[in-house]
Amino acid sequence: MKYYLGIDIGTSGTKTVCFNEKGKVMTSKSYAYDMTVPHPGYAEENPMDWVIATKSTIKEITQEGYSISGIGLSGQMHGLVLLDDKDHILRNSIIWCDNRAILEAQELEAHFGNRMKEITGNPVIPSFTLSKLLWVKNNEPELYKKINKIMLPKDYVRYALSESFTTEYSDASGMQMLDILHKCYSKDILDYMELSLDKLPKLMESSDITGYVKKEIAEELGLEETCFIVGGAGDQAAAAIGNGIIKRGDLSIVLGSSGVVFSPILKSDIKENELQVFMHAVPDTYHIMGVTNGCGLSYKWLKETLFADVKYNDLNAEAEASEPLANGLIYLPYLNGERTPHLDPYASGTFIGIRQNTSSRDIIRAVLEGVAYSLKDCYSLLPKSKYHIRVAGGGAKGELWRTIIASCFHEQLERIVQDEGGALGVAILAMVADHIYPSIEEATKQIIEIMDITQPNPLWVEAYQKGYALYKEAYISLKEFYKKAFKI
Ligand code: XUL
Repeated sequence: MKYYLGIDIGTSGTKTVCFNEKGKVMTSKSYAYDMTVPHPGYAEENPMDWVIATKSTIKEITQEGYSISGIGLSGQMHGLVLLDDKDHILRNSIIWCDNRAILEAQELEAHFGNRMKEITGNPVIPSFTLSKLLWVKNNEPELYKKINKIMLPKDYVRYALSESFTTEYSDASGMQMLDILHKCYSKDILDYMELSLDKLPKLMESSDITGYVKKEIAEELGLEETCFIVGGAGDQAAAAIGNGIIKRGDLSIVLGSSGVVFSPILKSDIKENELQVFMHAVPDTYHIMGVTNGCGLSYKWLKETLFADVKYNDLNAEAEASEPLANGLIYLPYLNGERTPHLDPYASGTFIGIRQNTSSRDIIRAVLEGVAYSLKDCYSLLPKSKYHIRVAGGGAKGELWRTIIASCFHEQLERIVQDEGGALGVAILAMVADHIYPSIEEATKQIIEIMDITQPNPLWVEAYQKGYALYKEAYISLKEFYKKAFKI
């Protein structure tokens, strides 16, 4: 039996899972680290933390006696890692949920206009790597001149383990520097940034072997020198593979820190979409994606700020005791601004409709419902079609939340047994590279099993149609107010 590691370099920690070649979890190790918030709206992490976390979790696994054939890396997307010509880290990484680059996004929008969407598949998005890089150019010009290598989070870990300066298309398409139709970096964008091509990682496919673990690191971590690393994927594409979301018509709703609605498409579908468009980790496949920034983050905020002493399970039971529409309370989950559909960094988390008889139960329920509405905002933008919907991520464990979402979408939601998401996705890529399976699709067919199906509650469907209409109206009424309030 052969063993593979799926390593997910996330926002709050790194999780390394050892799978056998049948996709069964043998053991799993996690290592937490902190994000720093030097100013409101900023979010940074130290890339060394990711390397320390990765090494420490690998070592714990090899110490249990597993001999690892190959490694797949999944990573938080859009983060900016900068190295100088001696490979020193030039500054903390500005990560995906950092919203500082608002002016830079406006500058790029003014210069590129609609061409940005034509080239990269997306309008200018302040949280993508390019706007962050321009922020460094405009605000830290001396540091900008010293840049010798630009990387994404998981690719910095790859570089530390194997010295391969490489990325793959799914994560690279979140940099907003990739010409996604031609699968190369955009010369126009590089010229605007006064950057040469050699500063960017080489592009490969997700299941290509990008290199082998360096001899001294293999010795340190108890790995064989034959242990290879595959391209891997950005965390969303990785999770999609781990959830079996491979082809057109598949759709996943992932309830993580952010909430994501994800569906694969073909190159010929690209022009019709208003959602974010990226390359998938499956060859010759793209995907559309809607992202609501404050999904699990809303729930975490709620628990830590208002219900610190209550267990998560009890929170759900409380919410269940409220009614659909939470006694008239509406929550807009814009704690970190909003991505889809508003692309609005100024929006903030909002409760509307607090009354004398509003209970703590209503507040919890309103948060679950508000996130469901924000996911429906993403879902409503997909091309009209019949989708096979799977729900995954930490939030999918709660039956109430699943039923609220199913009722709000008026669709059934399937759950699978395997809940390792991104880690399984990138381990599958390593298995395919090692010819255990002939293709990603075949691997997911053999590995993934259905656990259960959540049906909409027929008594809630109409209520949530009304609630969703009010939710949409609320943002329209508040849009200008959010901007004014942000400035103070
Ligand atoms: C995807 C995105 C998040 C981050 C953090 O576009 O921003 O998934 O990668 O998980």
